[in-house]
This record gives sequence, C-alpha cells and structure tokens, in this order.
Amino acid sequence: MSTNQNNLPAIISHCKEYGFIFPSSEIYDGLSAVYDYGQWGVELKKNIKDLWWKSMVYMHENIVGIDSAIFMHPTIWKASGHVDNFSDPMIDNLDSKKRYRVDHLIEGFVENLDAEKGAQIIADMELLLSKDDFDGLKNLIVNLGIKCPVSNTCNWTNVRQFNLMFSTQLGSVAEESDTIYLRPETAQGIFVNFLNVQKTGRMKIPFGIAQIGKAFRNEIVARGFIFRMREFEQMEMQFFVRPGTQKEWYEHWKETRMKWHLALGIPQEKYRFHDHVKLAHYADAACDIEYDFPMGFKEVEGIHSRTDFDLTQHQLYSKKKMQYFDNDIDEATGKAYGNYIPYVIETSIGLDRTILMVLSEAYTEEDLSTAEKQDSRVVLKFPIKIAPIKLAILPLMKKDGLAEIAKELMQSCSEHFFCFYEEKDSIGKRYRRMDALGTPFCVTIDHQTKEDGTVTIRYRDSMEQERIHMNDVKEVVMKAML
Ligand code: GAP
Repeated sequence: MSTNQNNLPAIISHCKEYGFIFPSSEIYDGLSAVYDYGQWGVELKKNIKDLWWKSMVYMHENIVGIDSAIFMHPTIWKASGHVDNFSDPMIDNLDSKKRYRVDHLIEGFVENLDAEKGAQIIADMELLLSKDDFDGLKNLIVNLGIKCPVSNTCNWTNVRQFNLMFSTQLGSVAEESDTIYLRPETAQGIFVNFLNVQKTGRMKIPFGIAQIGKAFRNEIVARGFIFRMREFEQMEMQFFVRPGTQKEWYEHWKETRMKWHLALGIPQEKYRFHDHVKLAHYADAACDIEYDFPMGFKEVEGIHSRTDFDLTQHQLYSKKKMQYFDNDIDEATGKAYGNYIPYVIETSIGLDRTILMVLSEAYTEEDLSTAEKQDSRVVLKFPIKIAPIKLAILPLMKKDGLAEIAKELMQSCSEHFFCFYEEKDSIGKRYRRMDALGTPFCVTIDHQTKEDGTVTIRYRDSMEQERIHMNDVKEVVMKAML
C-alpha cells in the first residue's frame, strides 16, 4: 500500500498492471516520455474526449469541430512565430552533458525548500523569464548552488534558447525546402481553416472551432509520467470574436471551463487559476487552470486571449485575406461593423494531463481490515460517465444455465454502454478486479436469478449490495451515467 502523499509511483504501476498505460516500446527498454494506452486506458481516453466534445460542440450552437492534418505547410510555423519563438531557455551541465529546461531545474530545486523561500525563488525566476534575462537566470542557478542531478556539480553553460518543434523531411530529397514540422499545437490547423469553416458553415461571429488531436514537442526534461510527453493530445477550441469584446469572452471562457472541470466531481479546492506573468508572443491575457497533482499544483488547461495575431500573420504570409464581414449594426455609429480580422479566445486542454488528473483523483487505497482479518483494496473512483467499464456481468458459475442468462443481459446492455463479462475466479476476487479498473456496477447472476429474475447489484464506492430485477439493470446504469 502506498502511504506516500505523492502516490504517483503507485498510480504508474497500477496503470501498467491493470492495462491502462504502458511505457512505449517497452520490449526495447522504452522510449523516453512516450506512452501507449492499453485496453482500459483507451476507453477512459475516449470517454474524456467525448465528454469534452459534447460540452464544447454539441452544447454550443455556435461551435463546430474539425480534424486537420498533423503535417502542414512549413510557412504556417514561420507565420505563427513557432520557428522563431517556440523555444525554452535551456542550460547544459558540462560534466554530465545533460540539458535542462531552466524553469524545471529551478522548480525541482525549490521542491525541497520550505514554501515561503520556494515561492520567493519562483517569483524571481518568473520575473527573469518575463524579461528574457538569460544572464540573470544563470546567476540565479549559480547563486542558489543548484547542482545537476546526474553529475552533482555546478559546472553550467550559459542559458540558451532551444526550439521544441520536431522536424522531418517531406518527400525523398533531403533539401532544406522540404523540411516540415510535426505540429506543436492543434490550434494552427484551426486558424488556417477559419474562412473555410466560416463560409461553408455560414458561421456568424462570435463562433468557435474545436479540434482534438496529436501534438508533438521535443521536451528536454520530460517528467511526471503522462504529464509531460513528447507526443500528446490536445483538445483545443478557438473562439472568434469582434475586436474589443475579447476581455468579456476571456472571462466567459475562464468561467465555463472551470465549470466543466468541477462537473468531473473534483472539488474546487483542488483547482486554481494561475495568471501568466510572461505572456506568449501571441497573447494579451492568459491563465492556466491548475490542478493539485500528486507532485503539486500544475497546469492542466490554458486559456489565452490570442488577439488577432495568428490570423493577421497568416494573412501576411499567405497573402490571402483573413477578414470577416460583419453586417451587424454598431449602435455607436449606426453602421455595419464591416470587415475586420476577428480576435480569438482559445481554450486548450491536454488530454493526457486530464487523464492523469482523473486518475490521481480516482486512485484510492482503502484499508478494510477487521478484528478478524487484514484486508485492503485499490479502487479507482472514476465519475461514472468516464469509467472505462460501466457494468461487469458475473455469473456465479458457468454451469446450470447461469452463463446463458448472463450473456442475455450482456447482449441487452452492450449496445447502450460498455459491459464486461467474466466467469473465472471467486466473486470476491472478481469484485476486487473490477474495483481496480474503476467499474461502478457489478451484477452477479446466481440460482435465485433463475427462480425470480433478480440479480445482486454491487456498488463500487460503498461496496453495498442489493437485489434488483434483471430487467432494471440497464435503467439503473443509464440513469447513473447522466
Ligand atoms: N495552443 C496553445 C497551447 O498549445 P500550451 O499551454 O502550450 O498552449 C496547452 O498547451 C495544453 O497542452 C497544456 O495546458 C497541457 O495540458 C497540454 N500540454 C502541453 N505540453 C504538453 C506535454 N509536453 N505533454 C502533455 N501535455 C502537454
């Protein structure tokens, strides 16, 4: 049993043991900061994607979705500023030859200090980062005596910028003009399709375009399991608004997104907003929604007021108009607003980070010992709507026609939600296994089922059991999923 408050190692091994998440290429000793989702992880991931898509696209008449390609014209990344600006300050240790992101190195050092001292160092670091003061950052590292975790020395290079985009070659000839990038964010696929969607969808401002997809970043120090990966998924939405209204829409989306997080059943005190001191090159306001992960409060979602930066840049580089014609009447002038490049509010949430958040929240170790015997269980208390398996159907035994009845129930429920059938092992063992997978309901089919059509339903969190009619099982599960 993990007694450590930072139960990340226990979560990681639980995810591997129970088929949620595996290290990528494991039989070749893995690939750093790359992970594969197993049979239950992929269900959890799909359910979270569906929840987000439903709340953003289906619940908003003025938001539609797209699925743009990962490969895009390389000029897009020049226009967006990623070629020149998508970099992090790095420092190398001359003895170990290891490279570190300066903020991660300092944050790692601060973890072992008392809170007040740590907060002061982080504030100093953020100020230096906001001014791109690389000499100041190096001095901070040297003055604090921060050592390389590998060589244990302070033999540091100067601080330098390092671009995080992966590049590859398009076609067979390795010429410079063929260099393309794996997208570091899904957002640009939305910007370059802004007019396609606006015109074909006859969208009127304000409106949004949502997208879920892979993004790639050559993170130098990838830490924290699926928190910081080199290949990950984002769920992003760009909301196009009339210039001058961006502040109120920024507040609107901050509030709306926080409500989505709270609807996951995670308490308010586990979240906080963190306003950016150093704004990205495209933003006039930005904040993170942070969750209290096992390793402390960290960003799970970013909300950015991106101004008209991206569309203006694409207009400049592509030489194609990115303007929208607004025929609504401006009350101040009595005339139509006319042509303009819209401003954009972006909500950008990491899917893998959301998965780590719900796993951290759900992972529970319970001591069930009594005076007679020692006992414990690990249970994943997922909200029902995102649990990978909703219902486990467990015949007490295979014979006496119990398996046939169970299969019938399975057939009637499977088209409505994901069910799992198991007839091996004792019922107690099967219940524990379902707890470990986060299955909210188990039903047992026994001899009484043959007589009166009732089954035992067992509730994951309370472990209480009751008898209900087999015909009511589907209804009970579906009601709980709402
Ligand atoms: N389009 C804006 C954008 O990409 P970001 O703050 O760099 O903004 C948005 O990323 C979200 O993507 C983050 O809040 C985080 O959840 C997720 N994310 C970013 N880098 C990641 C990484 N290396 N591994 C996993 N998730 C990541």
